[in-house]
Amino acid sequence: MTGCRFPRAVHLVSLSDMNTLSGKHILLGVTGGIAAYKSAELIRQLRAEGATVRVVMTAGAQQFITPLTLQALSGNPVHTDLLDRSAEAAMGHIALARWADAVLVAPATADFMARLEQGRADDLLCAVTLACEAPVALAPAMNRAMWDNPATQKNVQALQARGMHRFGPALGEQACGEVGPGRMLEPDELVTALASLFETGILSGYRVLVTAGPTREAIDPVRYISNHSSGRMGFAVARAASEAGAEVLLVSGPVSLETPPHVLRINVVSAQDMQDAVLARIGGCDIFIAVAAVADYRPEAVAAQKLKKDAQQVTLTLTRNPDILATVTALANAPFSVGFAAETEQLEMHAQAKRVAKSLDMIAANRVGDGVGFDAEENALQVFWDGGSQLLAQTGKMKLARQLVALVAQRFHGKHKKVIRFNAKDSA
Ligand code: C5P
Repeated sequence: MTGCRFPRAVHLVSLSDMNTLSGKHILLGVTGGIAAYKSAELIRQLRAEGATVRVVMTAGAQQFITPLTLQALSGNPVHTDLLDRSAEAAMGHIALARWADAVLVAPATADFMARLEQGRADDLLCAVTLACEAPVALAPAMNRAMWDNPATQKNVQALQARGMHRFGPALGEQACGEVGPGRMLEPDELVTALASLFETGILSGYRVLVTAGPTREAIDPVRYISNHSSGRMGFAVARAASEAGAEVLLVSGPVSLETPPHVLRINVVSAQDMQDAVLARIGGCDIFIAVAAVADYRPEAVAAQKLKKDAQQVTLTLTRNPDILATVTALANAPFSVGFAAETEQLEMHAQAKRVAKSLDMIAANRVGDGVGFDAEENALQVFWDGGSQLLAQTGKMKLARQLVALVAQRFHGKHKKVIRFNAKDSA
């Protein structure tokens, strides 16, 4: 993404220079080819980009490089056996498949791809790949005649037709002394190719403003009213929108989270600060996603000095905070607006009522309490719009955010198209 068009804020934090692999869970599959020695450097580079790496090695791979080497470099135990009870108890093949944001098999041998094409699940790497719903990329590496063989070509084409990605192979000198196609791409090329999987481009050229985190409403100089929001869902939404190619501005309440890559962040404290920051910048935005858990009330007066605990009882008078989302949707040129609704009961009824009351294009509702929702790693969302809804099943907040952003992009582009069609007919 090139220079950000958002105006610079006084309390601007920074444009993070982290890349799209930062924070990603990468499952690296290593199969039995001489290029397996490059896996060590690949892991190092993936981690340098901020990814968390777990390695699955086939029996053949262990003839070329030891699990101990890859364990030391990845900082995680290396997984080798499908039928190892203790390994399965610690993190089984299904848990590994769910954990991964992407699987990269490098090197991918002709034999591995043949077995994958058949849908075999008789070793750990095949089983994990079969069970994985995240993107899978293969970095083939083999002798040029093996690569050119129609059997290999047929398998590779079938795997690509099923949605798997292929990185390489490159042309060049091979370990066997021949020259031709079959060399595994270099680790830096694989890292770049893998990063591109997370950049969908569905919101390229659009500007998205996201609010996240709680707000703090001061009682006196040392005390405040707030809530349990960790900001993780909002930050995940900002990151997912940025991965989708959007220019993203994140207005965040006080949280201890790193700014997602390429996202411009503005820190605020109170609901009033958040409203001021949003209204100052919403003008140029195409999409507004309000994820923040804004405090509904603030103390009517903020004590200038720390309140003393002399009295047995203290009464705080609270006054309503502005509804930022409703203020934005009431603007003349309101952006496509998405709200969140955290509910403890009657999810659909309350969410739909909020969607209508706040004139939202979409609302994402989640149940809170019992370890789900606020301050939890996972979440589930039921998304409603006028005339439709979709359930996004419980999963990690990052995966959920990507699904939500894909849905928002779909509805946003749908609305956009309708306007164009109407105008075209109108002028005919
Ligand atoms: O009414 P309720 O607080 O449940 O609405 C939740 C939605 O409205 C969220 O999207 C939240 O970010 C937004 N909101 C807001 N300003 C407020 C309260 C809620 O933007 N003062």
